[in-house]
Amino acid sequence: MRILALESSCDESAAAFLEVKAGAVLRLEHLVASQAIHSLYGGVVPEVAAREHSAAVPPLLAGLAKQVTGEPDGKKLGKLVDIIAVTRGPGLITSLRVGTDSARALAAAWDKKIIGINHIEGHVYSNWLPKEVGESLPADGDIFPAVVLVVSGGHTEILYMRGHGRYELLGATRDDAAGEAFDKTAKLMGLGYPGGPAISRLAAEGSPLKYDFPRPMIAEPHFDFSFAGLKTAVRYFLRDNQERMEDQQFVRDVAASLERAIVDVLVAKTVRAGKQRKTKSVLLAGGVAANGLLRRSLAEAVAAKLPGVRFAEPQVRYCTDNAAMIAMAANFRVAEAKRGAWRDMDSDPNWELGRADLARHRLGRSGTD
Ligand code: KG4
Ligand code: ZN
Repeated sequence: MRILALESSCDESAAAFLEVKAGAVLRLEHLVASQAIHSLYGGVVPEVAAREHSAAVPPLLAGLAKQVTGEPDGKKLGKLVDIIAVTRGPGLITSLRVGTDSARALAAAWDKKIIGINHIEGHVYSNWLPKEVGESLPADGDIFPAVVLVVSGGHTEILYMRGHGRYELLGATRDDAAGEAFDKTAKLMGLGYPGGPAISRLAAEGSPLKYDFPRPMIAEPHFDFSFAGLKTAVRYFLRDNQERMEDQQFVRDVAASLERAIVDVLVAKTVRAGKQRKTKSVLLAGGVAANGLLRRSLAEAVAAKLPGVRFAEPQVRYCTDNAAMIAMAANFRVAEAKRGAWRDMDSDPNWELGRADLARHRLGRSGTD
C-alpha cells in the first residue's frame, strides 16, 4: 500500500509518502514546513496560519514528488500513489481546509481513493513509525489493549484502545492542554512561542524541587486534567518575584519546577489508568511527547508500577505535527478510503475520538474490559 498524506491542522504544513508491504515499512519520505511567523505573536493566529498553509502546500508537494520519484519534475508521483490521506480534523477550520482541499484536488485529478484522518489518531499512530525503513510494524498482540496519553498543544487526554481504531476516551483536559500550559507559562516568562521546547531547555539546568507549583487534580480518581490553575499560580508567582527575572538561575529553576509539576500530573494519571484497565502497553503521543523529562518519567513509572506492561514512545522527530503519522493511521484504515469521496469531503474542526464515553467516566461509571 502506497499512501500520500497531507497535514495542515494547526501551524505545520506537512506531506508524506509511506509504503507498507507485508507488515513492513518499505519507504517513508516526509517533509514539514513549520510556520515561524507565529513566534512574533506569541501564539498561533488562525488567519495567518491558513495563509501560510496556502503558500506552503504546493511547494511542499512539489518537493515530495521530486523526493519520491527521484526525478526533477516529479510528475510520476500520481502513478506511485494508491490512496490519499488527509487530516480532516480536529484543528483550525481555515488551516484544515487548505490540506483537505489540496488532497481532494489531487484525488479528483488522479482518480484516487481518499480518506480523512483524525489528527489525534495520527499522533497515536506516530508510535508505529519505524526508526529505519525496512522495519516491521509492531505486532497487534504486543500493543492492545493500550492506554494512550495524548499530549499536544490543543489536546490532553487518556485514551483506551482495544484495537485499531477502537477508542474510549477515559479523560481529557477541562481547560488548557499540557502544551498550552507550557506555551502560556513560557509566554508569561517572556520565552516566546512555542514554549515547550524553551522551558524544557532551561529546565535542564534548573532544580525541579525549588518551587512547589500546584499539581492540579493529581489525587482525584478520574482521568481528567486541568492546567489553567497552574498557569494562574505561575502568573502570581512571577508577579511577586519580578525583580528576580534577571537572575538566570531563578528562571531555570522556575522552568524546571514547572516542567516537573506538569509531568508529575501526566504520569500519575496515566499510570492510574494503566492500573485500572487491563492493558498490554502504555503509549505516549503528541507534541509534548518530545519532552525528555516526560519520556523518562513515564518509562520509569511504567517499569516500576505496571509490571509486564510495555512502554512505547514515538521518535522525537515524529512527536510534533507531521504527515508521516497521518499516513500511518491511514494504513490501518485503507478499507475506508473511497474513490469519488473527494466530492463531499469536508473538514471537521471538532472531531473527537471516543468522546461518547467521557460522560460515563465523569459520572464515575468506568467501563468494563
Ligand atoms: O502536537 P503538536 O505539534 O500540535 C498540536 O497538535 O497541538 O504539539 C505542539 C505542542 C506545543 O504546545 C509545544 O510547546 C509542545 O507541543 N512541545 C513541547 C516540546 N516540544 C513541543 N512541550 C514540552 N517539551 C517539549 N520538548
Ligand atoms: Zn498535533
